[in-house]
Amino acid sequence: MLSYLHGFHAGNFADIHKHHILVCLIEALNRKDKPWSYLETHAGKAVYALDSEQASKTAEFEEGIARLWRAYNLPESVSTYLDQVRQVNENTVLQRYPGSPALVSGMARTTDQLHLMELHPGEAAQLKKVFSGHANVGVHHRDGYEGVLSLLPPKPNRGVVLIDPSYEVKAEYDQVVSFLSKAVKRWPNGCFTVWYPLLSAERWKFMLEKIRCTGIKNILCSELWIGDPQEQGMYGSGMLIINPPWQLDQTLDQSEPWLLELLAQRAGASRRLYWLAPSED
Ligand SMILES: C[S@@+](CC[C@H](N)C(=O)[O-])C[C@H]1O[C@@H](n2cnc3c(N)ncnc32)[C@H](O)[C@@H]1O
Repeated sequence: MLSYLHGFHAGNFADIHKHHILVCLIEALNRKDKPWSYLETHAGKAVYALDSEQASKTAEFEEGIARLWRAYNLPESVSTYLDQVRQVNENTVLQRYPGSPALVSGMARTTDQLHLMELHPGEAAQLKKVFSGHANVGVHHRDGYEGVLSLLPPKPNRGVVLIDPSYEVKAEYDQVVSFLSKAVKRWPNGCFTVWYPLLSAERWKFMLEKIRCTGIKNILCSELWIGDPQEQGMYGSGMLIINPPWQLDQTLDQSEPWLLELLAQRAGASRRLYWLAPSED
């Protein structure tokens, strides 16, 4: 089933939380001259017009990127992320939002390699169009779990995998666990990051527990709650990071309280940063 289209949600509070962390991960890789690999299981279509029918229908970006666009005194890492959003906007008016592939390719050097998987035919076609002239970006119209697994371990052998399913079907929570247990064995030194929605059914809690039980070490989780849990809709966004770069926890402790204040929607807004599994040493 492929009914989910990210265009309805691009630039919402969850994208801000997820993409800020993603930019921090790429920034950390760029601190060394050595090239890196970026692999993505669920890429979407790279750039989203915020005046499209989809974006206008939900207007979720109003509570996300539109708030950030107007903000000032940004923490350093948030400022780096916003610079990438500016890259896809020609002037001072917010018109487009970059999805994860555009954010990462905007930070990539010519020696870095991107491998993007997208199963939806329309989204994959648009992704191919955006990256048609980019020699270091491979777009694959195929299942992201199988596609990324087949490329592990990648060359260059340092880098990040983003797993960003829509969780349209309950089975996806288990697919993520099964993917991680195989993928981390194939690429033990890779950094893997998984986005998950905080919803009242609390399937994310079971997913995290199953991931913890795989025995994978060195797992950091960041959760941003825009308000108290409620029956309908997503009340928060989570990012799990296996093998995070040195001091990512400190960077997030500096920037996420500011992001929380910006993105809070009602009483009960809060954030959590914790180690789901400690490192081996
Ligand atoms: C949440 S969106 C991705 C958003 C994107 N990662 C970003 O942050 O900008 C999920 C995408 O996964 C695609 N998708 C769903 N199942 C898939 C699968 N098994 N393999 C690859 N892509 C899939 C959907 O078509 C959708 O475009």
